[in-house]
Amino acid sequence: MSENAPARIERRPFGTTPTGERIELFTLTREGAPTVSVTNLGGTIVSIVAADRAGKVADVTLGYSDLAGYLGDTSYFGAIVGRYANRIAKGRFALGGESYTLACNNGPNALHGGPGGFHRRVFAPKVVKGPDGDALELTYVSPDGEEGYPGTLTATIVFSLGADGGLRIEYTAGTDRPTIVNLTSHPYFNLAGEGEATILGHEIEIEADSFTPVDRTLIPTGERRPVAGTPFDFRRPVAVGARIDAEDEQLSAGGGYDHNYVLRGKAGTLRLAARVVEPKSGRALEVLTTEPGLQFYSGNFLDGTVAGKSGRPYLKRGGLCLEAQHFPDSPNQPAFPSVVLEPGETYRQTTVYRLTVAR
Ligand code: BGC
Repeated sequence: MSENAPARIERRPFGTTPTGERIELFTLTREGAPTVSVTNLGGTIVSIVAADRAGKVADVTLGYSDLAGYLGDTSYFGAIVGRYANRIAKGRFALGGESYTLACNNGPNALHGGPGGFHRRVFAPKVVKGPDGDALELTYVSPDGEEGYPGTLTATIVFSLGADGGLRIEYTAGTDRPTIVNLTSHPYFNLAGEGEATILGHEIEIEADSFTPVDRTLIPTGERRPVAGTPFDFRRPVAVGARIDAEDEQLSAGGGYDHNYVLRGKAGTLRLAARVVEPKSGRALEVLTTEPGLQFYSGNFLDGTVAGKSGRPYLKRGGLCLEAQHFPDSPNQPAFPSVVLEPGETYRQTTVYRLTVAR
């Protein structure tokens, strides 16, 4: 059998920001792959349209119908999150004998790169040719001191569609001063289709034997706790909703699942991190990553106030996130894998989201 034709990208205007920057929408298509749209505002995945068992397509990611929605977003729908995805306790960290202070935008803590994080930034887009055909390369140069982080950080993120239909996201970054970096992509999935009730019936398997328990403000305590015998055990597929309301101090802290899993295998090697199946449609999602951790967030803070792309409200647990990243609060946790990036080094991450149909 001949290889399927390489991916193609079409670009079109997506609107203009209040400061006059023209934003575009890039649509990647490839035979046998879902259709993926990404905007250079925040490197945001705007849609992933995938077939179900019967061949019926639906958009399986939560988001907005227009640019204005993304400009006002507070849920990080589909966005690239940086410079530091997840939380940093009290918005403080020390590096090379200096202390740094970040905005505390999530209770007492800093979350997702701060109010002006990467999700709000305009990336310079370029359509490049790679082994899989057209790929979208997005670059953002974050100035020294932006959102409180040291060093000029130049980040490049390449989105491509592999021959296996996987959406591949490849990150690289470099700095001119020692800094910290932890990037992720933040799509919310509902494999029944965005706007469909909840993800509680989705069955999920996570390739992790332990997770990092948190305090009431969702900062890791430093412990790595085995999942065995807890509602956090997804070593075999279990419905998200099966144990989400169990009496459990960790579930109560997160209002459901909002925890970092310590992935099996070697960080730096692309390996399976999680698999999700929506039994009715048969749509399945595989997440592969080179990262050491995976944040499983069950959409607990969605509350029906956002009407999504098709006008249907995004209810509590109307979508789930599987965010490949380093562990939360790593700059303050010496026992966690390091997030320090020195000048001359290259930060690298590859994460793949692959939609298939479960038989
Ligand atoms: C966090 C949640 C947060 C959500 C939206 C997730 O990565 O773990 O606690 O509510 O992002 O900001």
